[in-house]
Amino acid sequence: MSGTLHQSSPCKVNLLLNILGKRADGFHELETVMLPVALCDDLILKRAGHGITFTCSEPALPTDSRNLVVRAAGQFLARAGISDGVSIHLEKRIPMAAGLGGGSGNAANTLLALNELFDYPLHAPDLQTLAAGLGSDVPFFLQSGPALATGRGEHVKALDPFNALRGHWLFLVHPGFGISTPWAYQQLANFPEALNGQAGRANRLVDALQQGDLNAAKTDFYNSLEAPALRKYPILRLYQEFLREQGAWVSLMSGSGSTTFALFESEAIGRRMLPQFKTEFGGKCWTALVALEG
Ligand code: C5P
Repeated sequence: MSGTLHQSSPCKVNLLLNILGKRADGFHELETVMLPVALCDDLILKRAGHGITFTCSEPALPTDSRNLVVRAAGQFLARAGISDGVSIHLEKRIPMAAGLGGGSGNAANTLLALNELFDYPLHAPDLQTLAAGLGSDVPFFLQSGPALATGRGEHVKALDPFNALRGHWLFLVHPGFGISTPWAYQQLANFPEALNGQAGRANRLVDALQQGDLNAAKTDFYNSLEAPALRKYPILRLYQEFLREQGAWVSLMSGSGSTTFALFESEAIGRRMLPQFKTEFGGKCWTALVALEG
């Protein structure tokens, strides 16, 4: 049972993030439509020594228990009653504090990989409980397709593929600064309309996307957290306007930001837009163009 395990850790975008109100526990009730994106960090895991040894390619990330990977590993070993050690390396490619769920995906994939490495001591409900305790977005990454998430984000319903997105390309741009998730949620108090969305938008969007009708879906892409984020960072609004002018079906902020995404009908349209985007906004921001499976 020795050997090294390589685990890909993808990211996500929120095609819709509709906040329905603030709860007594301080979290926000929401409905969100999440799409996995094949842009991945890599986790390399080995059974070794005692305790948890963690290294990371990104010096800005803490390597102690503030890191979600270390927390996930610690909780996994404790729940499974395993006293053997493990070493984990994280090769980071997904931008951080970006609204792409990179850290949440790392945590979920640590749980999945450790379960494989130690011969499946935990069952799905245990993994689910650990994931929900690690963060609202973590349970989504225990599965691999599009999903509808409710509650504070931890109740995940896997969805059939989105036919409307098949063959489309996703453009992502990170402006070089992050947005703190707690900050974005706290700011909603100043935007009552964004704080108190009507439930049901998510199902409308999902129906249209599954039926292959991007035109009908278009008006239901929405993110409540844009209200505070675009007010503070107007550059994000400029990105969206530019991307729509360049032929994007939709352009929206993902999660609590700061990444903006745009949907293009073809790779060619996306590639044609890229140099113009760099001319308009400078070459320093992080960008990616990724094929969607739907
Ligand atoms: O669950 P997670 O650790 O990702 O949440 C980070 C922060 O985002 C929370 O502490 C809370 O301030 C905010 N949040 C929220 N409502 C949610 C999810 C997150 O208020 N549904």
